[in-house]
Amino acid sequence: PLPDHFDKPVHIAVIGGTGLGKLDGYTPVAALDVSTPWGKPSAPIMILEHGGIPVAFLARHGLYHQLAPHEIPVRANIAALRSLGVRTIIAFSAVGSLREEIKPMDFVVPDQIIDRTKGIRPFTFFEGGVVGHVGFADPFDAGLASVVQKCAAAMQGEGVVLHRGGTVICMEGPQFSTRAESNMYRAWGGSVINMSALPEAKLAREAELAYQMICMATDYDCWHTTEDVDVAMVLKYMDANSKNAKHLVGAVLDELCHQDKSDMVLAKHWEGSAQGAVKFM
Ligand code: ADE
Repeated sequence: PLPDHFDKPVHIAVIGGTGLGKLDGYTPVAALDVSTPWGKPSAPIMILEHGGIPVAFLARHGLYHQLAPHEIPVRANIAALRSLGVRTIIAFSAVGSLREEIKPMDFVVPDQIIDRTKGIRPFTFFEGGVVGHVGFADPFDAGLASVVQKCAAAMQGEGVVLHRGGTVICMEGPQFSTRAESNMYRAWGGSVINMSALPEAKLAREAELAYQMICMATDYDCWHTTEDVDVAMVLKYMDANSKNAKHLVGAVLDELCHQDKSDMVLAKHWEGSAQGAVKFM
């Protein structure tokens, strides 16, 4: 059994999505049952170590994939990671492609989001007397995106294709889009679509964390002439490319751990971004 405590700060975290429940090359050293003022996170936070550097891993949909997108306790997830000392989050997500050139199993490092959630998910830490407004013009961290791009470039020989930049449409779900919606998102300039970029990215910004999502295309949603998306299709492609997905996330972690050692804290950029709000935790 894993120890239920860990007494060093953990600076780097991975939030794993559908199909990314485990990371190769990292040794589990603790499973933390964290409580926050916003409740418990989706799952116990696994502390994994590689070369003496700890990273936190959180399964967004729970240990048994039992949480639908609108049921994920995102505030607890972000607050729990922050309370461990996390400053940098790499978030993984399966997505539908809205572009011909983004093929199933391609990776995308988006730089923009369009919010199509319906306001039913708790989406801020700043309420109930704590007032704050953070900038969100660029929802992702360009420094982290560059690290991902560099790692993917080194994996081209293994068939890894990565698209740098793009807009992720975050829809409410859990139903997939209608064909009219899918076509509208394409007309809006959307690159990919998922159900989990928000409020995660917003809450990470409020908590002054550097945040970057890595997306992997699993389908062409329903605008394309190929088959319409269903769950089996998402799982089939996720499974077919999970080796590359794990390998890419592992390479990104190795690079971030290396930078962390040389004292480059990527979240520096966001420090003070929530200034004016009562200090966070
Ligand atoms: N996740 C994976 N594929 C998706 C799609 N087509 N729409 C929304 N979320 C997705």
